[in-house]
Amino acid sequence: MMNAHSAILSPFTLPNGVELKNRLMMAPMTTCSGYYDGTVGNELVEYYRERAGSMGTLIVECCFVDNRGMAFPGALGIDTDEKIAGLARIAQAIKAKDSKAIVQIYHGGRRADPMLIGGRKPVGPRRRPSAAERWPR
Ligand SMILES: Cc1cc2nc3c(=O)[nH]c(=O)nc-3n(C[C@H](O)[C@H](O)[C@H](O)COP(=O)(O)O)c2cc1C
Repeated sequence: MMNAHSAILSPFTLPNGVELKNRLMMAPMTTCSGYYDGTVGNELVEYYRERAGSMGTLIVECCFVDNRGMAFPGALGIDTDEKIAGLARIAQAIKAKDSKAIVQIYHGGRRADPMLIGGRKPVGPRRRPSAAERWPR
């Protein structure tokens, strides 16, 4: 008989055939420890290596997809090919311990802080509400 404890530690096969060694997943958690431009440093690779192994899957913290999408200081980026090498080091650290690596992607949209995007105007799918709309009398 499988109880809840053994179920969570048993393998799980995704519809695409990929097998997860267990059902534990680390939620994406922004560490704010990327470089100013969103590239990965050594300490972050070690942070993920430390957490891989026992967890079947690690979801790496959210990465902005465009250079106007950065929403937090120290956020990671996945917006240029130059970012691939650092993210690949994280993926390798996770996969070397037989866990699966997933990366979350995002765009800060109109919530992006102009301070983080070179003082440029944030872009988003919606018009930015005017002051009157934001603070109605
Ligand atoms: C420090 C920290 C950073 C987080 N960063 C992200 C993130 O990058 N993406 C995301 O979807 N959720 C993020 N979350 C939310 C977690 O993934 C998770 O859903 C949440 O912490 C679990 O629920 P609870 O904190 O309400 O208990 C973050 C949470 C924490 C504590």
